[in-house]
Amino acid sequence: MKELKIPLIKDGTVIDHITAGNAVKVLHILGIPKTSSSIVSVAMNVRSRLGKKDIVKVENREIDPNEVNKIALIAPKATINIIREYEVAKKYRVQLPDEIIGIVRCANPTCVSNSSEPVKSRFIVTNKDEPQIKCYFCEREPEDIADRII
Ligand code: CTP
Repeated sequence: MKELKIPLIKDGTVIDHITAGNAVKVLHILGIPKTSSSIVSVAMNVRSRLGKKDIVKVENREIDPNEVNKIALIAPKATINIIREYEVAKKYRVQLPDEIIGIVRCANPTCVSNSSEPVKSRFIVTNKDEPQIKCYFCEREPEDIADRII
């Protein structure tokens, strides 16, 4: 029988199979607790089939595609489960798009995306399994993607 670390929720979003240790970064991406007052539960280092994972459950909120793209950058194997009336209404794996626009700030201070020009940051995704990205403008590859998310 499966051991339940956090209670089931009635309505909301469960982000499962987060790379162990990255739950706090997922919370940051979701604006928790700064801009959201949703009820949230977190489990870290839970044992699963493929080693350890983190889980985040956000009640009464269905997360949007822009947030999902950001989560894919730091938890490429995460599953999004939309819960309605205690049932899993939708389940999908996060997927990195080919380009990331306006989500990560370039590490190069002289990059045009960091200038006063109205240019949104733009990155080409060069590895989708272990996320790696390259600036479309200056080709700089940030090492610390999680810390550069806008
Ligand atoms: N969940 C929840 N509240 C519900 C229903 C499900 O919090 N009312 C959570 C479960 O605890 C689990 C996730 O949502 O973490 C996905 O649920 P489910 O699809 O039932 O679990 P699994 O089959 O184990 O999912 P997977 O195959 O994606 O590992």
